[in-house]
Amino acid sequence: MSHEEFPTDEPAVVTCGLPYANGDLHIGHLRGYIGADAFNRALGTLGQDSIYVCGSDMHGTPVAVNAEQQGVDPEDFALDWHRQYEETFPKFNVDFDNYGHTHDETNVETTQEIVRTLDEEGHIYEKEIQVAYDPDADQYLPDRYVEGTCPYCGEKARGDECDEGCQRHLEPGEVEDPTSTITGNPAEYRERTHKFFEVSEFADFLTEFLDGLEGTSNARNQPRQWIEDGLQDWCITRDMDWGIDYPGDDDDGDDLVLYVWVDAPIEYISSSKQYSERVGTDEFDWEQVWTGDGEIMHVIGRDIIQHHAIFWPAMLEGAGYNKPRGIAATGFITINGKGLSTSRNRAIWAKEYLDEGFHPDLLRYYLTTTGGLQQDVDFSWDAFQETVNGELVGTVGNFWYRSLLFAYRNYEGTPEADVSAEVRERIEGAIGDVRESVNDYSMRGVGQAATGLAQFGNEYIQRNEPWKLTDDDPERAAQVIRDCVQIAKAVAVLLEPITPDKAQALWAQIGEDGDVADAHLEDALAAPPRSFEEPGELFEKIEDDRVAELTAKLEDRVEAASDDAETESDDTGGDESDGMTDTEDLEALTEDRIGFDEFQELDIRVGRVESAEGIEGADDLARLEVDIGFETRQVVAGIKQLHDLDDLPGTKCVLLANMEPAELFGVESNGMILAAGEEADLLTTHGDANVGEKIK
Ligand code: 2FM
Ligand code: ZN
Repeated sequence: MSHEEFPTDEPAVVTCGLPYANGDLHIGHLRGYIGADAFNRALGTLGQDSIYVCGSDMHGTPVAVNAEQQGVDPEDFALDWHRQYEETFPKFNVDFDNYGHTHDETNVETTQEIVRTLDEEGHIYEKEIQVAYDPDADQYLPDRYVEGTCPYCGEKARGDECDEGCQRHLEPGEVEDPTSTITGNPAEYRERTHKFFEVSEFADFLTEFLDGLEGTSNARNQPRQWIEDGLQDWCITRDMDWGIDYPGDDDDGDDLVLYVWVDAPIEYISSSKQYSERVGTDEFDWEQVWTGDGEIMHVIGRDIIQHHAIFWPAMLEGAGYNKPRGIAATGFITINGKGLSTSRNRAIWAKEYLDEGFHPDLLRYYLTTTGGLQQDVDFSWDAFQETVNGELVGTVGNFWYRSLLFAYRNYEGTPEADVSAEVRERIEGAIGDVRESVNDYSMRGVGQAATGLAQFGNEYIQRNEPWKLTDDDPERAAQVIRDCVQIAKAVAVLLEPITPDKAQALWAQIGEDGDVADAHLEDALAAPPRSFEEPGELFEKIEDDRVAELTAKLEDRVEAASDDAETESDDTGGDESDGMTDTEDLEALTEDRIGFDEFQELDIRVGRVESAEGIEGADDLARLEVDIGFETRQVVAGIKQLHDLDDLPGTKCVLLANMEPAELFGVESNGMILAAGEEADLLTTHGDANVGEKIK
């Protein structure tokens, strides 16, 4: 791992979290896979030698429980889903260089070898622990076979994760008031011997590792806190028979397999290995990446930060492997402002989206450019329509079509002229922005650089009015159109990571041979071919009645699912945060009422964050500069762990402006940013309220 800017001389591997092979893929999954695919493609445009690998996560209770519910063998069940995923990803232009699965031979061997090394190096020990047991079902209850209360935040939790609360990993025996998910009976605790990986010994290593880690700030900040709170060793075996055997264990009937979170990330290595074996190590050497100086970047959901930023690097260090250079953890997807819920059918399913006849690139664009990586992204058909019609049809498509049509009609292609200095500089600027965005792991930045360039193209053609120049000043007209064709080509190169098909169609339209995916950023400035055919329109407007129909369809099925009492408690769709809170979990309503005059005393204003940075020495606090129209206020807010501070500048917020000034960690706070809930969801406005406007 180096920390030189991309592109580096070392090969790179980009990964995204392995999907559990247990149910249909939906938009929540796609956000990560598309984001990582765009990142890998964008690295390629910078000239970085990089591959994108993943695989299906076949083991563990997420698969076993669902297979059992359907009365099928977990292996057949998981393989079936695996095959479906293999077919689905390419339909979204998610172009894995290798897509394996955790139950294949490569992964079984690699996992056992790594665990054996950890054992030999003295990082694994045995301990007697209390394990949940269901006497009626006569079986132990690992992970999703047991539910209870999280000891850290008090939310309802699964046996190994606080999926509805603080997102922490839970060790066997930690969940309080355990109940069996098989019979619904209270579980007993029984003593069992299990293997532990001594994560606690890696605290210093992990602190240093996190200091150098790139990606999103949540992937660094939360783990730092966990280390400060004290790391626990990690139980790496389970009482199950579906999984990878602990190496060296004879089949002694004990049914002890490795915890799914041991073999799952190892698939990142196994999948890279399989790719090297297929193409040859001269073309791509997995060992150079995983045991040498190569670059490893993981794109994950924010619910699995602990596994990737604590357990995984500790395992890699203990077994003598290279560590990740970057971890980018995405926020969740909400649907119409509410948490995605597969059990309530409040989701946009991958298959459904395609069946509705939408091009995958439209969703790719929406998911990568709406909000920063770390933010939760809301999907509604309305918002999707607005983005597609506004940015893709209105800005990119409109510019491409009008400039190429003009070029075709007047010059049968690219006019003979040189690109102007103004346009060259503008394209160079956009290239620089892409380079910077990729180095910041910001796919939104890549999209904005491309769309911004198309927007400039529209302004440029409008400002120069070539249609008025063709007779009076043909040379100038040719110059303007030459510039426009160059901008169109540059937009195609820049947008390729996000909308690969559409970029390729444009590429072919301007007469370029080969694949735009093979182009590098500098090719955006290379002259396009002299002649091309009549262009067609590349994006189609989404009509209002279509949106109304899709919205109604979604609402109807959410309603139908909520009427179905059974589905309420029977969620088989993998992991999600559903954003619903039981009222008993909410802070009680205040009984005392206040008058309007008292409310008027609160001077609440619309603000815009100008800058945001952490406060040294304070774990949770950030210093924000907030523009409130009349002036810029310095405010201290407890959001350091909960937001990607780099994403905040430019976002609108709500500020209580007449709060008494206070000093925190030596920094004066002159107002209070309003936020909701444990995750400090920042309040904002959704219309066109101006900065400084009073909220009343
Ligand atoms: O949380 C999940 O959906 C897991 N299947 C992700 C595994 S990612 C990795 F480490 F393998
Ligand atoms: Zn919790």
